[in-house]
Amino acid sequence: MLIASNPLSTQDDVAACLVADYGIPVFAMKGESTDTYRRHVRAALDFKPDVIIDDGSDVVATLIKEDPEHTKKLVGSTEETTTGIVRLKAMQDAGVLNFPSIAVNDAQTKHFFDNRYGTGQSTLDGIIRATNILLAGRTLVVVGYGWCGKGVALRARGMGANVVVTEVDPIKAVEAVMDGFRVMPIASAAAIGDIFVTVTGNRHVIDRDHFASMKDGALVCNSGHFDLELNLVALRELSGEPTQVRPFVEEYRLKDGRRIMVLGEGRLINLTAAEGHPASVMDMSFANQALSVEYLVKNKGKLDPGVHLLPPEVDIEIASLKLRALGLSIDSLTAEQLEYLSSWETGT
Ligand SMILES: NC(=O)c1ccc[n+]([C@@H]2O[C@H](COP(=O)([O-])OP(=O)(O)OC[C@H]3O[C@@H](n4cnc5c(N)ncnc54)[C@H](O)[C@@H]3O)[C@@H](O)[C@H]2O)c1
Repeated sequence: MLIASNPLSTQDDVAACLVADYGIPVFAMKGESTDTYRRHVRAALDFKPDVIIDDGSDVVATLIKEDPEHTKKLVGSTEETTTGIVRLKAMQDAGVLNFPSIAVNDAQTKHFFDNRYGTGQSTLDGIIRATNILLAGRTLVVVGYGWCGKGVALRARGMGANVVVTEVDPIKAVEAVMDGFRVMPIASAAAIGDIFVTVTGNRHVIDRDHFASMKDGALVCNSGHFDLELNLVALRELSGEPTQVRPFVEEYRLKDGRRIMVLGEGRLINLTAAEGHPASVMDMSFANQALSVEYLVKNKGKLDPGVHLLPPEVDIEIASLKLRALGLSIDSLTAEQLEYLSSWETGT
């Protein structure tokens, strides 16, 4: 059975097709309220699953809180995204994760491609579909230069935007500088940005003071997993209730008349206003998911509770299959090269 991982991410025609043509029970609806979303999470648990394929860890967290008895019967779970793995590791540290969970996101054939090239493209797709804005010449602020942020920054530059990056990690910040982006604190970026994209997996990375210093007409959106990256409660306090001016665009008018446009209610903009990543990058993510489930089932009862990586050979196999699907071949190490790489005697 299937539920959504986010209240605004469902494509209703796809959900209907899964029910009508494949007989799969689906509990998901685009625009479902938070209460309905939570009811759907519980419906997934009432199904008493053997394996959970999670995305953001809402199902696993609810299971642990509300039906701890069932966790003992679970073969295990898999987790699709960075935020879900952060939560799983917190559950592990708290001693409540009593079954194995595979960190699908941490496979190289997942985050190198889905997070970077998938989110890079589909986030801009969501912004453009929602607003029809021309990116060329605009200042686009990317908050967070992790895998998703790198993709968004790279693709936005390709469309002519002046990209500014904000970070809290000095290494990522240096990387952004050497990739050719301007780096500054969000307090400075807030005043100069035309478009803001958050991709941190963190809370309130655009906060009250940042909203208060934005230009008239600034567009703000989030492509991280949860909508709490933007402090929309504070924005409402600064402006009152927003007005919907286009589908997925809400205008917040500050007391002095400046308007701030929030896209997709602060939920993942690429799933809200566009269609998520193209299939030709999700194929690798879903290969990781399928092989993770197979790995869990084949190793039932043998894996310790906690967060596990898929074996590296699975990553290599998925990349090899992807190359084959692209009609590409690569070289193999010769016997001489293999020997050289495992020896130490040969130097200058
Ligand atoms: N939209 C999508 O389809 C999609 C796809 C994959 C992942 N995600 C989600 O996107 C988010 C980011 O994922 P990722 O894989 O890029 O994670 P990541 O860990 O690689 O990167 C996150 C970055 O944000 C930075 N950061 C944290 N707090 C910050 C702050 N206050 N200001 C500026 N930077 C800050 C971190 O230092 C880090 O470099 C997660 O929530 C993840 O679940 C979304």
